[in-house]
Amino acid sequence: MLKISQLTKSYDKKNIALDNLNLEIKKGELIGFIGPNGAGKTTTLKIITGIITSDKGSVEIDGHNIATDMIAAKKSFTFVPDHPEIYESISGIDYLNFIADIYDVSIEDREERIQSFSTQFQIDNALGKKINTYSHGMKQKLLITAALLPQAPLFILDEPHVGLDPHSSRVLKDLMLDHCRKGGSVLFSTHVLEVVENLCDKIAIIDKGKLIAFDTLDNISKNKDVSLEDTFLEMTDHE
Ligand SMILES: Nc1ncnc2c1ncn2[C@@H]1O[C@H](COP(=O)(O)OP(=O)(O)O)[C@@H](O)[C@H]1O
Ligand SMILES: [Mg+2]
Repeated sequence: MLKISQLTKSYDKKNIALDNLNLEIKKGELIGFIGPNGAGKTTTLKIITGIITSDKGSVEIDGHNIATDMIAAKKSFTFVPDHPEIYESISGIDYLNFIADIYDVSIEDREERIQSFSTQFQIDNALGKKINTYSHGMKQKLLITAALLPQAPLFILDEPHVGLDPHSSRVLKDLMLDHCRKGGSVLFSTHVLEVVENLCDKIAIIDKGKLIAFDTLDNISKNKDVSLEDTFLEMTDHE
């Protein structure tokens, strides 16, 4: 579903943000992407989604190269960024229909999905209002709803749990699991290790631009008495 090979990226000559990153995600897999602040998570996700380009390496999404087959690659995923820029002056429902139009979601499917996701996130009553009247959490939930509408094969989210209340956080976890059960794949970054521990098929750990682990929780914390938190802190300890 996603194949990243030898991704390397520097924003300036002195610092390397990503160093030869390789990652492969299969159909149906739910992958948690963790790492300290500045490790390179957002950079990786921005390269996968074609927002920025890498200096070296390649990204293939559902068989489509993001650099040479961009439209097909972009139809294969949706993305919820960490600091979303969203059209403030239109209503929630207009925004959702706009996204559904771009991804060719049929009228029937979009009605059913908008109803289902917006009710679960408890933003259904706000959809007629302009987005500039939404709280941060409501905007976040609108963006997640929009990203779920196309039911694209790969669902990518950058720190989606930030700003969500416990109810919405649970809804998001269930929707991510549901997406994978239906054969889709999910890649999301987070600092909430408990979510990763309970939810993910595999965990990718990045530190200083290098992938230092990509495996199941059991294999990463070989000793089952040790929590992911302990393992993570040990692996990313620079002292
Ligand atoms: N636009 C940018 N210009 C220069 N350096 C950047 C830029 N974005 C990120 N970086 C640097 O790249 C590294 C990785 O950042 P980022 O991918 O945002 O990490 P994370 O999402 O894991 O916190 C950091 O050292 C950060 O300072
Ligand atoms: Mg980030």
